[in-house]
Amino acid sequence: MAEKWAVVTGAGSGIGAVVAGAAVKRGYRVAAWDLNREGLDALAADIGDGCVTRACDVTDEAAVEAAVADLPTSPAVLVNCAGLVRFGPLLDLSLADWELALRVNLTGTFLVARTVARRMAAAGQGSVVNIASINGVAAAPHAGSYTASKAGVIRLSEQQAMEWAPLGIRVNTVAPGLIDAGMSDAIYADPEVRRVREGAVPLKRLGTSDDIAEAVLFLASEQASYITGQCVTVDGGLTKATLANLPRPASIDSVGTDGPTGS
Ligand SMILES: NC(=O)c1ccc[n+]([C@@H]2O[C@H](COP(=O)([O-])OP(=O)(O)OC[C@H]3O[C@@H](n4cnc5c(N)ncnc54)[C@H](O)[C@@H]3O)[C@@H](O)[C@H]2O)c1
Repeated sequence: MAEKWAVVTGAGSGIGAVVAGAAVKRGYRVAAWDLNREGLDALAADIGDGCVTRACDVTDEAAVEAAVADLPTSPAVLVNCAGLVRFGPLLDLSLADWELALRVNLTGTFLVARTVARRMAAAGQGSVVNIASINGVAAAPHAGSYTASKAGVIRLSEQQAMEWAPLGIRVNTVAPGLIDAGMSDAIYADPEVRRVREGAVPLKRLGTSDDIAEAVLFLASEQASYITGQCVTVDGGLTKATLANLPRPASIDSVGTDGPTGS
């Protein structure tokens, strides 16, 4: 049987590395791309022959074009996972930090997807999964341009899905919630912050990279062949919990028709 390739960007660390490993376990050969050469080497040591690593800056058009041209065949799957965050209040945010997050998270997603989709279009099939964030769904304090970039990823994915459906290419987004990995390691190193955040999640735990990889590989797979243009939020219910996290007096929660109404 012909090899099925999956391209995973940001595969040198955190969620992307776990997605790459999970893809290999499901029979894909993985083209693992990242700026972080050390991280890619660690991934290769971990998953061996199943992956081919390449140092590639997702914002560098020539580098992305060369990486796509070097793929032995049109990939079945692209996962755009490379990303970064620069925290800080908007009033103090430098233009350079604003532009960096937009460039990597949004422009990088556009550039890699566009270049890979040209090969997928020629093959008449493919599936793209772009990694956004719950920050693309709801604002968070001091997330700077990260929030705007991830909201952009969600809308960009819908645009790609509509333009590329006639070409046989599906495009979906996964929006991870509070994930105990990668760029959030510094947040969850604080035990009190960790405890309060876990408590705010309806499923009462932080998410893992495996939780994200499962959703990504489902959307990428044939089992999802009728799903395109969707954003799957993998957050243990957090973004639906605005009202659930508010205190209520127990006295109003009796079943019946005479009590107070509303939320
Ligand atoms: N960890 C979380 O809590 C969380 C939550 C929501 C969304 N996400 C998203 O998940 C994705 C992975 O995040 P993570 O937590 O694993 O972070 P991470 O920092 O561990 O991994 C991100 C990877 O992207 C790579 N990268 C950055 N700029 C690049 C560039 N220009 N070209 C190529 N590679 C580049 C980095 O080298 C790094 O290996 C990101 O898109 C992030 O926004 C993470």
